[in-house]
Amino acid sequence: MTFNFDTPPSRLGTDSQKWQKYEGRDVLPMWVADMDFEAAPAIVEALQRRAAHGIFGYARPVASTVDAVRGALAARYRWQVDPSWIVWLPGLVCGLNVASRAFAEAGDEVLSLSPIYPPFTTAPRNSGRVPRSIPLALDSRAGRWEIDWDALERAVSPRTRVFLLCHPHNPVARVWGREELAKTADFCERHGLVLVSDEIHCDLLLEPGAAHEPAAVAAPKMAARTVTLMAPSKTFNVPGLGASFAVIPDPALRTRFAKAAAGIVAEVNVFGYVACEAAYRDGEPWRQALLAYLRGNRDFLAQAVALELPGVVIEAPIEATYLAWLNVSALGLPNPVKHFEAGGVGLSDGVPFGATPGSHVRINFGCPRATLARGIERMKAALRAR
Ligand SMILES: Cc1ncc(COP(=O)(O)O)c(C=O)c1O
Repeated sequence: MTFNFDTPPSRLGTDSQKWQKYEGRDVLPMWVADMDFEAAPAIVEALQRRAAHGIFGYARPVASTVDAVRGALAARYRWQVDPSWIVWLPGLVCGLNVASRAFAEAGDEVLSLSPIYPPFTTAPRNSGRVPRSIPLALDSRAGRWEIDWDALERAVSPRTRVFLLCHPHNPVARVWGREELAKTADFCERHGLVLVSDEIHCDLLLEPGAAHEPAAVAAPKMAARTVTLMAPSKTFNVPGLGASFAVIPDPALRTRFAKAAAGIVAEVNVFGYVACEAAYRDGEPWRQALLAYLRGNRDFLAQAVALELPGVVIEAPIEATYLAWLNVSALGLPNPVKHFEAGGVGLSDGVPFGATPGSHVRINFGCPRATLARGIERMKAALRAR
């Protein structure tokens, strides 16, 4: 079966957060992380069937939904997950916030690697925990972002309780390997930290044949100290349906997590469960087609940046996600996002991710190739207009 990624319906004038930001302006939105593609037909059909039922009461996952999740985790990562380990969540930012409250007290410290998706630092702060960001190191010879293990060690204090890992890492698109995961496990074990591994982008690995390994699988000794956050939302482009889950094998950690969530975290809605089941059970052919398309977009973008956007640099390969971290410091722009917006392209500012002002922006290439080409043309023109 072939899928259409080239000509999805327009999102202009819809409820899309991404598109509403620039309503009434000729700006291509290439910021927030959702894709401009329709969801897999299997998901759309399942939702239509559910809508036709006409009754939308409080929902709990049915066995087939749990089986679809467990089946995908077993098939993709050889991870045998007991149904009791799964804690459903309406979103993973919510999961980061709940984890910060559950495993640290006010004033305790929560580690993460920077630059990083902003909720990794805002989640601890929301409840009076203290985020500590450890800069990733760019090995420019190898063209890779690396964990600075010495800096990580130095960042630990008697108040450190949690390490929030982003795996794969948004925004630098690094896929952490087994050795790094084993070292992370060792680090957390030595310092008595709970590892919270946000693996929302784990099914978006762009290298053919590349395999994601959950942190809890790569380092089995850590499974009892690990909370894994997952969702079909990024991969299958259903983030607006709010179906996500934590996998927490250890009963004591699970109880602490559930207590912190009690009464403030909403249930997953009926459509979220339906989409989740269809995605994991029936979405694989669509996902494979998506990966091929995104790979093409990534290569197209990398080539255009290298050849047509002087002063813009992709510092390391985009191993996963549909997001690229662009170093624009050579342009010397005080506010690169404003400059590119004026040229008709809406990017994410690097500052909330932890970048220094003017140094980085993030582009979302989860869109039709023609839209990406238009965005690049506009960025080119914006560079000439400096
Ligand atoms: C690493 C990471 N975690 C969580 C989220 C958002 O999750 P949710 O929409 O489920 O809250 C994103 C969205 O970009 C993300 O990149």
